[in-house]
Amino acid sequence: MLTTSLLLFLHLIAVTFWVGGMAVMHVAVRPAAVATLEPPQRLPFMAAALSRFFVGVSIAVATVLVSGLGLVMAAGGFARVHWSVHGMFTVGLVMMVLFLHIRFAPYARLQRAVAAREWPVAAVQLGNIRKLVAVNLMLGVGVVALAVVGRAF
Ligand code: HEM
Repeated sequence: MLTTSLLLFLHLIAVTFWVGGMAVMHVAVRPAAVATLEPPQRLPFMAAALSRFFVGVSIAVATVLVSGLGLVMAAGGFARVHWSVHGMFTVGLVMMVLFLHIRFAPYARLQRAVAAREWPVAAVQLGNIRKLVAVNLMLGVGVVALAVVGRAF
């Protein structure tokens, strides 16, 4: 019981950091950078902000997965859990793959373009990251709805 509560706490704190962090990046940090900074300042700033955020997301993703699987095991395995947990697991894995894609494709290209001071290339990569983060943010909100509201059905 205590173990399950601790696992759920870790699960929810990691989900909160990941989904909340994407929301802050998407609705506050990037629009503020666009409104106040020119490309030679904005693009290195966003690359630096994302590099710090992605360290936290990597830890959060690992925590969500390990704690989620721990909760499934504590409940007696996948055959025993509600369908909403199967949905959470499936969409959660899609979110994790999308994060890995962002981290190792457009984000890696953004870092290289910023290092080379190629601002138009960096701006395209940041635009790609913005769209993919928006998709993951919507999926994240959907999974929370599925996990919490889905339990009632
Ligand atoms: C990918 C692997 C994941 C696994 C194996 C997993 C598994 C679980 C399990 C077993 C529970 C406990 C369910 C219950 O007691 O009814 C839970 C709770 C929860 N999970 Fe996940 N989860 C995963 C990913 C996610 C993701 C990506 C999110 C959100 C973005 C999320 C959000 C939640 C929420 C909000 C709850 C609390 C539900 C409640 O107690 O009402 N999970 N998860």
